[in-house]
Amino acid sequence: MSSTPRRPTPTLADATRGRVLFGGDYNPEQWPEETWHEDVRLMRDAGVNSVTLGVFSWARIEPRPGERRFGWLDSLMDLMHEGGIGVVLATPTASPPPWLGRLYPETLPRDEDGRTEWWGGRQHFSHSSAAYRRHAAAVTEDLAARYASHPALTMWHINNEYCTHDWGDEAAARFRTWLRGRYGDLDALNTAWGTAFWSQGYGDWEEVLPPRRTHYLKNPTQVLDFKRFTSDMLLECYAAERDIVRRHTPHLPVTTNFMPLWAGQDAWRWAEEEDVVSVDLYPDPRDPFAAQHAALVQDMTRSQARGPWMLMEQAAGAVNWRGVNHPKPQGLNRLWSFQAVARGADAVCYFQWRQSRQGAEKFHSGMVGHAGERGRTFQEVKRIGAELAAVGAEVAGRHSPADVAVLHDWHSWWAGAHEGRLSTRVDHADVLTAWHRALWQAGLATDFAHPEHDLSAYRMVVVPQLYALTDTAIDNLLAHVRGGGVLVSGFLTGVADQDDRVRAGGMDARLRELFGIRTLHEWWPLEAGETVRTDDFTGTLWSEEIEETEDASVEAAYRGGELDGRPAVLRNGRAWYLSTLPEPEALRRVLTGIAAEAGVRPVLDGLPGQVEAVRRGELLFVLNHGREPVTVEVPGTHHDLLTRATVTDRLTLERYGVAVLRP
Ligand code: GAL
Repeated sequence: MSSTPRRPTPTLADATRGRVLFGGDYNPEQWPEETWHEDVRLMRDAGVNSVTLGVFSWARIEPRPGERRFGWLDSLMDLMHEGGIGVVLATPTASPPPWLGRLYPETLPRDEDGRTEWWGGRQHFSHSSAAYRRHAAAVTEDLAARYASHPALTMWHINNEYCTHDWGDEAAARFRTWLRGRYGDLDALNTAWGTAFWSQGYGDWEEVLPPRRTHYLKNPTQVLDFKRFTSDMLLECYAAERDIVRRHTPHLPVTTNFMPLWAGQDAWRWAEEEDVVSVDLYPDPRDPFAAQHAALVQDMTRSQARGPWMLMEQAAGAVNWRGVNHPKPQGLNRLWSFQAVARGADAVCYFQWRQSRQGAEKFHSGMVGHAGERGRTFQEVKRIGAELAAVGAEVAGRHSPADVAVLHDWHSWWAGAHEGRLSTRVDHADVLTAWHRALWQAGLATDFAHPEHDLSAYRMVVVPQLYALTDTAIDNLLAHVRGGGVLVSGFLTGVADQDDRVRAGGMDARLRELFGIRTLHEWWPLEAGETVRTDDFTGTLWSEEIEETEDASVEAAYRGGELDGRPAVLRNGRAWYLSTLPEPEALRRVLTGIAAEAGVRPVLDGLPGQVEAVRRGELLFVLNHGREPVTVEVPGTHHDLLTRATVTDRLTLERYGVAVLRP
């Protein structure tokens, strides 16, 4: 991937300048100019110091092919600057204007059945279309040239939530080129894809297609490669625009916003191409596990960023894309904003500044809701803005430490999701969530890592499930244990290689040896509601008929049924293997025990279930996710940066309350 040489690399710190950024997507083209002035007044009132402009402005900037209308944006950039508000300027390429689809129908994506995705919504672009790429580059070039030296500009935001697919003809041609790059020749492709099965051997590159509609199960490696290809094509689109803006402003950071735990992008790979990693996060206020879901996404984003990151979008109140959409009760917006900051966010931003009155998202909340300035939502936004301004200098840039790494990899997720797997009940994201939740409930600070990353900083490495592993990743896991680290793995790990070829023996031999598994006889997936008993806990979802080696110790064995006496939890020195998914409380207990042995302690001991403690730098964030006030032990004397009170040993938090304690 080409990238313009530049040094030093800009980072989020170049935009934050020691503050926490606070603001959101600003789509002023929906409003008359008087409203813009009103917006600036309210933004200043709310402590907004950053807005993202232009995300969906292509048709406004280029209403007809080649025309440019920048006057309105000039005024807004100036207005923001006069108001002391920085601008994250977006390339508008996520929603092409209707003329592009009309004049260049090949820019419109096709689904696997060949149906066209038309304009009238958004994100109707084919990542593979040369015409789309050409027009996106042209508008990006002109935008970057026009605003490169504008004093309001602080950062670039490329496109928005890259997530499109295309099974059409131009994508097919690019897929072939991508495959030639990966395999060189058709023999290698036929071998990697296992085309000897079902008479799929390819004799000419023109026969190779994206995995379009088939009569029965598709070739798994073809599907896997198509997912890799799609992630790479979107990344090419991103990098092309990034390189354009970098050429004009080498000193400014560039980002694009991820969706949380989104299956369509290899976010580890993408993060390497960004100066700032940012994410959009919309937990459901009614979900009892919302705080843990948010914590997972925040831990993962921080790990991808390898430091501070940007919460690009959250909702001030309700979203409008769930079946039933609930507002945030008083205090929840503030609590979740501080949860993000505790976990390393140096920017707390929303979609969107002012709630729309027209268009598809008019019932999605805004920082300024339909109720306006006097509305409860805006009043809470103001409070958050003021508090972030007060604590910003003490948190921005600080590190959030963790001794535990949870391993996650998109390629393994993709491979393990094939329709021909043994149990469609096994979903990688669910398993990952169950393990992270257990660690979260145990109060253990966790990072995420890719299985090929350097793991030496972690005492304990946890693999909820890595169905497919490269040889390099396997060597890395072995080295971690050899180097004195603890490794805990869940079931269905190390089954396949990078081509989704099952490894001899059903699980990689070196991993079997590491965990003390002599033979993996059979996999026994469980039906919904079906459980397996062990002498310690109840297992769910999956079980395995494995036989241990002499050196390994069976820490928990199945009791009754076909697997009676077989290992459910197997230990071989510092390596642990769980052949089922223990019910949540048991998984928490098992992981807490292993962590304690590895010398990993909870952030704060003895917290009730609804209270979370997170360290960032020398600060301790204490967050009450419960709807009732709570008093907790916080040994020592602290200064609460929010209340400015001294806290000694005990802290009382209101419902959804937050404390930011400095020793
Ligand atoms: C995000 C998107 C925003 C807005 C928001 C609504 O996915 O980036 O443009 O649509 O969702 O929740």
